[in-house]
Amino acid sequence: MKRLWIGTGWKMNKTTAEAEEYAVNLCDFVEHDSPRANVFIVPPFTALARVCAVLKDSPVLVGAQNMHWEESGAATGEISPLMLKDCGVQLVELGHSERRSSFGETDFSVNLKVRSALRHGLRPLICVGETAQEKEYGAAKESVARQVRIALHGVSREEAVAVLIAYEPVWAIGEKGVPSEPGYACAMHRAIRHTVEESYDTDIAQQLPVLYGGSVDSNNGAAFLSQADINGLFVGRAAWQVASFVHLIRITGSALEGGK
Ligand code: PGA
Repeated sequence: MKRLWIGTGWKMNKTTAEAEEYAVNLCDFVEHDSPRANVFIVPPFTALARVCAVLKDSPVLVGAQNMHWEESGAATGEISPLMLKDCGVQLVELGHSERRSSFGETDFSVNLKVRSALRHGLRPLICVGETAQEKEYGAAKESVARQVRIALHGVSREEAVAVLIAYEPVWAIGEKGVPSEPGYACAMHRAIRHTVEESYDTDIAQQLPVLYGGSVDSNNGAAFLSQADINGLFVGRAAWQVASFVHLIRITGSALEGGK
């Protein structure tokens, strides 16, 4: 039986006190419920150390929302992999569409970050997705394949087993987003897997978890998880309250019981 993944990225939300309260409640839940899915949360930088301390002995993984590829240096405002490791972080989200569209992130900078994350023992969660225009022009699969191929350039087969990919169509993300049709998302996940297979082999392509993100909530989560090529959910708004996230963790657990 496959493991499923369920995680939430908090974007620019929550003070350290709010983050800590969320982490304490989540920790209580996982202690009592021992979810069978892999669970992770991605708080803002300022809350990482406290959240990591709270979740230290729990199975919940903690991730950062970005990082620089260098260990130190003249990079005002940036955070290095060593700093993330120092906080206790295990995972790092890279290439989110908001970083690509508003902060100049490119496929090539994502690649530098992915390779650095792997060198430092951090699991990269690589976010890829096509824009509405690329979809309209029939170039969605090409766009996503390019993002995946460049992100994984120079990543060895041994390193690739630590990689996670989140397929997040840009048009599906946030307040104005419209969730993808589960069947469409599944076809895109298959295309991503095909690219991974071309870069490595069938084994790696089958193992590599590909999560869906973009306006996921408790009403549509199960429909995504029922698709063969979708290995989990990456959730924004609908998981910023801990009770809603717990609900989504339970939905993910039920999908596993349903034989996924
Ligand atoms: P959303 O965000 O669930 O609020 O659409 C998803 C994301 O940006 O990862």
